[in-house]
Amino acid sequence: MNLTDQKILIIGAGSGIAAQLAADLTASGAKVTVAGRSTTPAVDLTDEDSIRRLASDLGEVDHIVSVAAAHANGPVSGLDRDAVHTAFDAKVIGPLLLAKHFAPHIRPGGSILLFSGVAAWRPSPGLAVMATTNAAVATLAEALAVELAPIRVNALSPGIIDSGSWDHLDKQAFFADVAAKNPARRIGHPSDVSAAAITALTNPFITGTTLHVDGGGRLA
Ligand SMILES: NC(=O)c1ccc[n+]([C@@H]2O[C@H](COP(=O)([O-])OP(=O)(O)OC[C@H]3O[C@@H](n4cnc5c(N)ncnc54)[C@H](OP(=O)(O)O)[C@@H]3O)[C@@H](O)[C@H]2O)c1
Repeated sequence: MNLTDQKILIIGAGSGIAAQLAADLTASGAKVTVAGRSTTPAVDLTDEDSIRRLASDLGEVDHIVSVAAAHANGPVSGLDRDAVHTAFDAKVIGPLLLAKHFAPHIRPGGSILLFSGVAAWRPSPGLAVMATTNAAVATLAEALAVELAPIRVNALSPGIIDSGSWDHLDKQAFFADVAAKNPARRIGHPSDVSAAAITALTNPFITGTTLHVDGGGRLA
């Protein structure tokens, strides 16, 4: 599938992975709109009205990608209900509402791509919400692929990616530890994820699938 002039919406404006994907898609000739909570156009996945408005404003699209994520990390004993709900809004409920409002506007051959994550397959203490939301994304992609066919719906599950979201840590030590353990023996770059996302968008026989772009980290 040729991306020239394909209209593609990416949600999650602040994400380093979204920025890389937007740049790669634009270089391939696609017309890309990146939307977030503080962009024009604006969208907040906790707010159905903003999703409805964006769908109506954009009109027909070829592909929708949601990379949005909100975190509610920490031990189960200290979880805050509102933060948990916000995490489910960003990854599960918001994408469900994106499907509700955008499916009627998706052109033939189009698709939806959602973002899961390796925590679903390799949970660790303190990441119960992340593991559960990411696992739900994989099932949501399967359910939507069946219900919205022939619109294709897929999920992409990154491993540890140097996307900017780890910059608050001593990330070199963390990255060295991850790279020593995973089968690819390195951490991921946003371009690794972008390349797989473009495959999911353009391959007409991939639907209802989760693409693991994790260096094998879910197995290590
Ligand atoms: N980076 C990794 O190592 C890694 C690993 C596993 C999975 N993933 C997944 O890959 C995706 C991209 O990761 P990343 O590291 O590039 O991104 P990120 O830094 O986690 O950014 C996520 C984006 O989601 C946006 N967002 C949060 N709540 C939203 C809402 N209610 N409505 C609209 N947008 C909302 C944030 O917006 P603001 O800019 O407004 O805050 C931010 O731009 C995420 O789904 C993440 O869970 C990443």
